Amino acid sequence: NMHYETIIAEKKGRVGLITLNRPKALNAINRQLTQEVLDAATAFETDPDIGCIVITGSEKAFAAGADIKEMQDRSFIDMYGADWFADWERLPRLRKPTIAAVAGFALGGGCELAMMCDFILAADTARFGQPEIKLGVMPGMGGSQRLTRLIGRAKAMEMCLTGRMMDAAEAERAGLVSRVVPAAELLADAMTTAETIASMSLPAAMMVKEAVNRADEVDLAEGLRFERRLFHSTFALEDQKEGMAAFVEKRPAVFKNR
Ligand code: CAA
Repeated sequence: NMHYETIIAEKKGRVGLITLNRPKALNAINRQLTQEVLDAATAFETDPDIGCIVITGSEKAFAAGADIKEMQDRSFIDMYGADWFADWERLPRLRKPTIAAVAGFALGGGCELAMMCDFILAADTARFGQPEIKLGVMPGMGGSQRLTRLIGRAKAMEMCLTGRMMDAAEAERAGLVSRVVPAAELLADAMTTAETIASMSLPAAMMVKEAVNRADEVDLAEGLRFERRLFHSTFALEDQKEGMAAFVEKRPAVFKNR
């Protein structure tokens, strides 16, 4: 039931791992890959044994963008009529935490897919960019919005207007990625990080995600109130009793709601 053609979806412990797998096209994002990523992610979202989702690519490319060959001959009405890329709105709406583990090229839709995840772990080989302008188009899977929120106006504007690539060190300085690790350790690090998250109270982790995401949408006073109410609600969880008891008893916490 987890057989796909353009991705590999695997359960590893409590982590759902999605590996983009169109090596000949540097994992270019076509409609099939879009549907398969969204189907696999949705399956992990509804699987009670999964607590965190990792999306990764190959050593050479996380994804080199939307599939140019698939789009090349389409008209405005084809794109507008199909609301091309709108399906991707499902990914950031997942409530379980998601991590992008990026090595090599993350360009155009690849960079945008990585930014849809809750955070990006980068290999030292990672290269990010929004080169759409070089194709006579512009970002369409969130680049102009998420990149601007993540790294600020100056760098986002320069990246989208010139199409230049950013290496991993610059991406870390700019706040695009949470950490940079040696390429050989990327997947292991991402899986360990994901297992750590998946060992926490799942409702607490989901609330963290909801609260941090809220920061993009509302003003500070509203965001702080939203956070405080969610914080109060964690006291309805057994996991709050377990987590605090474990601390006081100097033992590791074992959360039930995972
Ligand atoms: N779409 C379709 N095919 C792609 C692709 C893409 N985005 N990126 C790479 N490929 C294909 C190439 O056409 C090539 O296929 P063939 O062997 O059949 O010619 C194969 O993958 C290998 O690519 P290269 O030979 O180009 O590999 P390279 O190492 O010389 O260069 C690269 C790597 C710099 C990433 C280069 O492939 C490249 O510039 N790719 C396009 C990047 C890009 O413009 N992305 C934006 C796409 S538009 C978009 O994403 C819109 C949006 O906002 C969602």
